[in-house]
Amino acid sequence: TNISWDPVAAAKGDFKHFMQKEIAEQPRALTDVLRGRIDQEAGQVFLDDLKLDTNALRRIDRIYATACGTAWHAGLMAKFMIEHFARVRVEVDYASEFRYREPVLGADALLLAITQSGETVDTLAAMEEARTQGVPSIALVNAIGSQAARVADGGPLYLHAGPEIGVASTKAFTSMLAASYLFALYLGQARGTLTPNQIRPHLQALIELPGKVAQVLESAAPICVQLADRFHHATNALFLGRQANYPIALEGALKLKEISYIHAEGYPAGEMKHGPVALIDEHMPVICIAPRDGIYEKMLSNIEQVKARGGEVIAIGSQGDDLLAAKASHVITVPSTLPLLQPILTVIPLQLLAYEVAVRRGCDVDQPRNLAKSVTVE
Ligand code: G6P
Repeated sequence: TNISWDPVAAAKGDFKHFMQKEIAEQPRALTDVLRGRIDQEAGQVFLDDLKLDTNALRRIDRIYATACGTAWHAGLMAKFMIEHFARVRVEVDYASEFRYREPVLGADALLLAITQSGETVDTLAAMEEARTQGVPSIALVNAIGSQAARVADGGPLYLHAGPEIGVASTKAFTSMLAASYLFALYLGQARGTLTPNQIRPHLQALIELPGKVAQVLESAAPICVQLADRFHHATNALFLGRQANYPIALEGALKLKEISYIHAEGYPAGEMKHGPVALIDEHMPVICIAPRDGIYEKMLSNIEQVKARGGEVIAIGSQGDDLLAAKASHVITVPSTLPLLQPILTVIPLQLLAYEVAVRRGCDVDQPRNLAKSVTVE
């Protein structure tokens, strides 16, 4: 008898694509990144894989977050988190720029390399530059035993997202955000900028996050299907966000362009008037990330400006926000959480939207043209 068994199809299970599977795996991945690292009762974070002791963590006076692609977007988020919780200044660099600009790191610096594969050539070169200058590196890394994990003298901080096959990063990205949050809390704890009482609500919010991501996956999926039916012929798209949702605007645009080949740009919404507004017309879907946060009102006025120029607004907002629903052309809502965790929820509909659009355009979702999962040569 002939038993035919396709290992690739088997690994995909019931999913059509790895990307679809990996998007769906995010509640599990976010559970795994927390496992063994938090004690809710004690209000404490444990990052046992890190090799820097409390004294070393206290001495740090600046951090360079370096990465490429989607991981660089996680670096932008890490800056918000680390500066907020640990009050250490953070610079974010593309690893490909950092390595060639002769960076002046300073004696008490730390390099934070962020990389799914742990094999990206520019990120490894940035780590090497730090080593040459006597600066320790920590790697937020997914691939166990990868080069970045091995050369990080401050230790790898593993994401535990599991293998990511789709070229467009999804579950590794949200795991990077959660790991950055843990690291920022840990640093705050070590440096005394956060007490256990202050840490506890953050741990509670992290614990609740996988369930909220699961809710978004369920509620946003049918809306993204409808939106993809309507917009998959678009040739351009603009993504706008502010503060912690600005990197998410960049990530939403990157996802769309990577897998659907639609030209997409992410912008901080406040910069809209300084260029992108010239592009807006009735053919331009504008995706506005506008949860109810400190700069919600500003996002609302951006939405009004887009509408006034004939643009069609797809808003990502908070559950129960009727005002937003009245102003935008289409709305996808997500549950609320703490402000610097909100991006883990707002990015989910953007992943789903990019996926559904790419499928309708007949694109090779898991292996988009010209792109590699890991860029190991320059
Ligand atoms: C490539 C991949 C992206 C990824 C980037 C950085 O461009 O297509 O999905 O974000 O490399 O990869 P890394 O493994 O360092 O996170």
